[in-house]
Amino acid sequence: MELFDVYPLFNINIVKGKGCHVWDENNTEYLDLYGGHAVISIGHAHPHYVEAISNQVAQLGFYSNSVINKLQQQLAERLGKACGYEDYSLFLINSGAEANENALKLASFHNGRTRVVSFSKAFHGRTSLAVEATNNPKIIAPVNANSHVTFLELNDIEGAKAELEKGDVCAVIIEGIQGVGGIRIPKPAFLKALRELCDQTGTVLILDEIQSGYGRSGKFFAHQHAGIRPDMITVAKGIANGFPMGGVLISPKFKPVYGQLGTTFGGNHLACSAALAVLDVMESEHLVDNAAKVGQHLIDELKKIDGIKEVRGEGLMIGIEFDQPVQELRKRLIYEQHVFTGASGTNVIRLLPPLCLSMEESDEFLKRFKSLLA
Ligand SMILES: Cc1ncc(COP(=O)(O)O)c(C=O)c1O
Repeated sequence: MELFDVYPLFNINIVKGKGCHVWDENNTEYLDLYGGHAVISIGHAHPHYVEAISNQVAQLGFYSNSVINKLQQQLAERLGKACGYEDYSLFLINSGAEANENALKLASFHNGRTRVVSFSKAFHGRTSLAVEATNNPKIIAPVNANSHVTFLELNDIEGAKAELEKGDVCAVIIEGIQGVGGIRIPKPAFLKALRELCDQTGTVLILDEIQSGYGRSGKFFAHQHAGIRPDMITVAKGIANGFPMGGVLISPKFKPVYGQLGTTFGGNHLACSAALAVLDVMESEHLVDNAAKVGQHLIDELKKIDGIKEVRGEGLMIGIEFDQPVQELRKRLIYEQHVFTGASGTNVIRLLPPLCLSMEESDEFLKRFKSLLA
């Protein structure tokens, strides 16, 4: 059997990681400014993380959601404290798309409505309603095109007002910072207006913090820069540093109903031990503050470089936009400078490094990056 060939691959086999560095099978070292697509939060192979999941798998890797799982309870309590949502509750699944799928489903159970508002360039995942709320017709199969979703321009307060005042919108779903869309930040005034409009119209406000959350923006959640509180927050990626996991943080206004949501693997013992180890390290190494500090340094320095159209971002979620396609530059970064970065569309380089990136590592990146632009 061969692999179903849906990924255009770089010809590199990564076999080892440590902190913000990875190594290929020939022992070539790379600086990781991509974090395996924003997934590596506390750094590769962190010793505390390795010890925690090794001990857990030796004890109990999995048992079903039909029995008490104290690790889930600990995670809910610790995460609530870490992010400032102690009064919310937590539903655990295995991926970002599943988190959004369940959030949208719960919103619809709650208010009985079926319409969803999403935004231009949004990405919310590849399952049925999550992909329908994703602004990319190429990945929406005919079976997913069910006319639930209206796309509005990001930051268009008047457009949102007109749509929500119709009174039939189930949920608004919006990324804390758009990632796949090219690091586009919703304006604080826009998020505040959405919050008010949702309150006035009985619409559920869902913040997708799958890429922008878990400390990446220099606050636990990107929407906290705007000072709003959504009805639901979806998380995945950095939550377990590469162990597949997702979660929905749910406001007390939603009442749980037995059997309404469920999953086989979600919140299993091994995933929870990984997520708890992530929170341990985020706290002991002050990684949210580090993301704010090192990210600001990178943004300030990148803005000084000639030939870049625009630098956008918060913390360690940074987009570098050029007037021309970046495909060749990204390849040269990998093959000549041994630096992994991401891309968005054709013209944007995306930086999503582990949150433990040091000042020295960020300067090393800048040196290698500038050497290709000179
Ligand atoms: C903002 C956002 N939402 C949802 C997803 C989907 O997450 P997953 O690939 O874990 O299903 C992603 C993945 O890139 C994302 O960036």
